[in-house]
Amino acid sequence: MVKPIHVLSGPNLNLLGTREPEIYGKDTLDDVRVRCEARAAARGLSVVFRQSNHEGVLIDWVQEARTEASALVINPAGYGHTSIALLDALKTLNIPVIECHLSNPAAREEFRRHTFVSLAATGLVSGFGAASYELAIEAAAGLISVD
Ligand code: DQA
Repeated sequence: MVKPIHVLSGPNLNLLGTREPEIYGKDTLDDVRVRCEARAAARGLSVVFRQSNHEGVLIDWVQEARTEASALVINPAGYGHTSIALLDALKTLNIPVIECHLSNPAAREEFRRHTFVSLAATGLVSGFGAASYELAIEAAAGLISVD
C-alpha cells in the first residue's frame, strides 16, 4: 500500500477564492483539494490535504510526513520567504518534496523572489493557479518509489 501524498498549504490560503483573486484565482482551497484528490486517484494514489496559518503546526505536519507520506507537496505561502525553521524541518525528509505556488513569485515583488523552502525542494511548480497543485501531484506521483 503506497502511503498518501501529503499536501500542505500555509498562511492565508484558507481565504483562497476571495483573497486577491486577480493574483490567486477564484478557486477555493476546497476546490483545490477536490482537484488534487482526483488527480491522485487517477494515479492510484491518495492525498492528505491540510492548511494552517501557524508555522509550528506546519512544522509538526512536515515532521509527520517523515513516516506517513510518500511525498510532500507544500505551498508555504509567506513562510516560504521567511521560515528557516520550516526549511530545517523539510531537510529531514527522505521523500520527494514539491514546492508549489499559485502565482509566480519570481515575477512579483523582490521579497518574494527568494524562498528558503526551495533549498529543500526536489522541484518547484508555480504560476498556474490551482493547476499548480495538480501539476505538483503529477510530479510527486512520478517520483514516488513503490518498492
Ligand atoms: C504564494 C506566493 C507567496 O509569495 C505568498 O506569500 C502567498 C501565496 C502563492 O501560492 O502564489 O501567500 O505562495
